[in-house]
Amino acid sequence: MQDLTKQETIALREKYIGKSCQLFFRDNPLKIVKGKAQYLYDESGDQYLDCINNVAHVGHCHPDVVEAGCAQMTELNTNSRFLHDNIVLCAKRIVSTMPRGLSVCFFVNSGSEANDLALRLAQIHTGNKDVIALEHAYHGHLTSLIEISHYKFNLPGGIGQKDHVHIAPIPDSYRGKYRNDRYSDEEIGELYADEVGQICENAKNKNGAGISAFIAESMISCGGQVIPPKNYFSQVYKYVRAAGGVCIADEVQVGFGRIGHHWWAFEDYDVRPDIVTMGKPMGNGHPIAAVVTTPEIAASFFGTGVEYFNTYGGNPVSCAIANAVFDTIERENLRERAVTVGEYLLDCCQQLAKKHHLIGDVRGAGLFVGIDIVEDRQSRRPNRSCAEFVRQRMREEHILISLDGPDCNIIKLKPPMVFSKGNVNEVVAALDTVLEEYKHKTDTDTIQTPAAGRANVKKHRPTTSTFKKLIKSM
Ligand SMILES: Cc1ncc(COP(=O)(O)O)c(C=O)c1O
Repeated sequence: MQDLTKQETIALREKYIGKSCQLFFRDNPLKIVKGKAQYLYDESGDQYLDCINNVAHVGHCHPDVVEAGCAQMTELNTNSRFLHDNIVLCAKRIVSTMPRGLSVCFFVNSGSEANDLALRLAQIHTGNKDVIALEHAYHGHLTSLIEISHYKFNLPGGIGQKDHVHIAPIPDSYRGKYRNDRYSDEEIGELYADEVGQICENAKNKNGAGISAFIAESMISCGGQVIPPKNYFSQVYKYVRAAGGVCIADEVQVGFGRIGHHWWAFEDYDVRPDIVTMGKPMGNGHPIAAVVTTPEIAASFFGTGVEYFNTYGGNPVSCAIANAVFDTIERENLRERAVTVGEYLLDCCQQLAKKHHLIGDVRGAGLFVGIDIVEDRQSRRPNRSCAEFVRQRMREEHILISLDGPDCNIIKLKPPMVFSKGNVNEVVAALDTVLEEYKHKTDTDTIQTPAAGRANVKKHRPTTSTFKKLIKSM
C-alpha cells in the first residue's frame, strides 16, 4: 500500500471520519507513523518526546510485547468460551497485585466497557440504581458512562445530569471548594468526604432510592491531575457502604504501577474497593481491559442466571500481550523507575515554580504529574492562554504535552514508564524557555496566538548543560 501525503491523509480524514473525533493540534495536526520507547516519529522522521501517552506504558512498540502478541497470533485467537492458559494466568497475575478479597476477574476490551460492567455489577449486587461520581470526572464514552461523567454531560452541548446521578465536589485542595490556603489536608479530606456523606443521606430520603455505587479515579486525571487528601477515600467508602452502595476504583489511567510505590493508586489511600477497573496500559496499546471484584459481587451477577459473554474480552492474543506487559514492568523495574524519575520530575518542576510565578501548583505521584498554570498565585485564577501557548510551543520543541482540568490550564505529564531523568531535563528546560517567552510577550503586551507567533520564536533544543544552568539560576 502506498503512503499518503499528509495533505491526502487530512483530506480523507475530513471526508470519512466523524468530526467529533478530534485531533491533537487541530490547526496543524501531527501525522505519526512510528513509535519507539518514549518517542514518536512523524512522516518526515522528526522525533517527538511523548509526555502524554500513558497507554504505551512500557514504551511504544516494546519488542517483547510485540513478540508475545505476534507469537500468539500465529498460534490461535478465539474467545473465552474455550479453556486457554493465557486468560487464567493473566487473571492470577492481576489478582496477585490486589488486596485480599478482590479475586474475580472479567475481561473486556476498553476502559469504558470495564466501567460499564462495574456499574452493572454494582446495580445487580445492591439492587440500587443511583451512582455518585465526582465533578469533572471522566469514566468513558458509553451511554451509561457519559451519564455519570460530569466532564462530558455538563458541557454546553452535553446531555445534562440524569436523576440517578449525584455529583460530589472534586477533592482538589488547590482550586476546589475547600482549599489548602484555608484548611489543613486532613480537614480538606473530611470536608470533601462529608459532601459524599450528605449525598448518601439525601438519596436515602429520596423515594426509597438507594446508592448503588460511588465511582472515582484514585487520582483524578481529566479533572486536572488532582491528588485527593490521604483520608478522603476511607471516609467516603464508609459513607457509601453505610448507604448500601459499593465502591468502584477507576484505575484505567493511574493503574499498573504508574504511581510507582504501588501497583494501584487506591493503595496509597489504605482502602479496599469492591470493584476495580483497569484498561489503557494493560495492553500497551492493544485493546484489553478488566474488572476485578469480590466473590460476593461476582456471585450476585452469576445469580441472575444471565450469561456474560464478550466476543473479544480475554482472548488468547490480548491476554498474551497483557502478560507480557506485566513481565516487562517487573523485569525492567519500571515501578521503581516511576518512583525515582517521578520524584526527580516533581522536584525539577517545583524548582521551576520558584522561578516562574505562572506556575501556581505542582502535584503528582510517580509518573503522574500536573502543573497548574495561573494568572497569579494570589487569586489562583486559571491561565488558559498561557497553558495553551506552552502546549503549542512545546510541540515546536518536539515535546508533546497535554492540557486538562475544567479550565484547560493544567499541564498533564503521564509519559511511558521508560521516561528518563534526561527526558525530565529536556522537558523542564523547554518549559523554562517557553514560560519566559510568554512572560516576555505579556510584559511587552504583544501576546499573539501561538500559531501567529511562531515566526518570532527562536528554536530551542534543550540540553543537559542548559538544564544545569537553569537549575543553578533558580
Ligand atoms: C479514567 C478513565 N476511565 C475510563 C476511560 C475510558 O477508557 P476507554 O477510552 O479505553 O474506553 C478513560 C479514557 O480516557 C479514562 O480516562
